[in-house]
Amino acid sequence: MSQHAEEEYSDDSGPMPLSQLEKFGLTATDIKKLTEAGYHTVESVAYTPKKALLVIKGISETKADKFLTEGRARLGWNGRGANVTECDSNLIIDPSASKLVNMGFTTAMDIHHRRQELISITTGSSELDKILGGGIETGSITEIFGEFRTGKSQICHTLAVTCQLPVDMGGGEGKCLYIDTEGTFRPSRVLSVAQRFSLNGEEALDNIAYARAYNTDHQTALLVQASAMMAESRFSLLIVDSAMALYRTDFSGRGELAARQMHLARFMRNLQRLADEFGIAVVITNQVVAQVDGAASMFNPDPKKPAGGNIIAHASCTRLYLRKGRGENRICKVYDSPSLPENEGTFAILEDGIGNAVE
Ligand SMILES: Nc1ncnc2c1ncn2[C@@H]1O[C@H](COP(=O)(O)OP(=O)(O)OP(=O)(O)O)[C@@H](O)[C@H]1O
Ligand SMILES: [Mg+2]
Repeated sequence: MSQHAEEEYSDDSGPMPLSQLEKFGLTATDIKKLTEAGYHTVESVAYTPKKALLVIKGISETKADKFLTEGRARLGWNGRGANVTECDSNLIIDPSASKLVNMGFTTAMDIHHRRQELISITTGSSELDKILGGGIETGSITEIFGEFRTGKSQICHTLAVTCQLPVDMGGGEGKCLYIDTEGTFRPSRVLSVAQRFSLNGEEALDNIAYARAYNTDHQTALLVQASAMMAESRFSLLIVDSAMALYRTDFSGRGELAARQMHLARFMRNLQRLADEFGIAVVITNQVVAQVDGAASMFNPDPKKPAGGNIIAHASCTRLYLRKGRGENRICKVYDSPSLPENEGTFAILEDGIGNAVE
């Protein structure tokens, strides 16, 4: 194997930049069109339905087909991945590498192995981690909802630091991307948490890419930039605090509900795409709203539910409900999860971040 080929091979441990497709008959101009539309990696294109490519200006049906065929072939789909080396000896993709994204069927055993390798990010409280099966799961969306002052933003601040820790310390060994819609991000909180985990405060802050979102279009557009940044360096966590706040101000009343849900669905799909494509943990926070619909309020003395309806419910893989306990203690309930039992645990909001409950 030549030196050059070796470099190519080691680069392959991350997502594949879209420019790789230039070697397979797509022009730099076409690639630029897709990049501008938010597709920065071969993975992002391969997972996209054709109709999403067709709405990009200047992308014809033929070109969309070419992007999908070549993109998916690079990822070993269509059974063509193994032949990649025949096309171009500079691009060596080992078909046996676990990195290959498989778009066809796999065995359940394979999924089982892959899930065992999934990294979880510590919340800072061992009790909370325990009910979460280790911490916040990477590769999926976790929603944290609850009333004001229940600690949603405090958990986000702690995770923004712990995601940077080495894996054996409960971290994700990556940077954090923080989208703040309410203006409640406080670097000073990050510094206290960093100190607790013996991280250099300045470095911890440098590893957090922060953006304040001002409206729902802006919030969605930031994800395009996010994907570009994630293609460049290793991120392990994306936070949106809060995902729903701007939707509740940008869209009002029943009349705009359908439009709101459509916009929100697109946002959530984009989040899911980032989680799949880059294997990052996505954490969103959400408020609770009064539950007005019929029977539920008759039997429930405290009828509250997370905002965002079915769209948020379906997109969030794990849903956590926070409520107040005594003093700085808070109670977290696993509200919905594909693999965790409905469990409750107590944690505390401390000066140096989230920790175990105090008596
Ligand atoms: N430096 C600190 N030390 C200890 N506790 C703190 C500190 N800073 C904030 N808190 C506590 O964190 C709680 C607020 O939590 P947080 O901001 O995470 O609420 P939230 O759930 O995000 O609320 P909202 O819905 O208003 O955004 C308050 O009870 C406050 O006392
Ligand atoms: Mg908050």
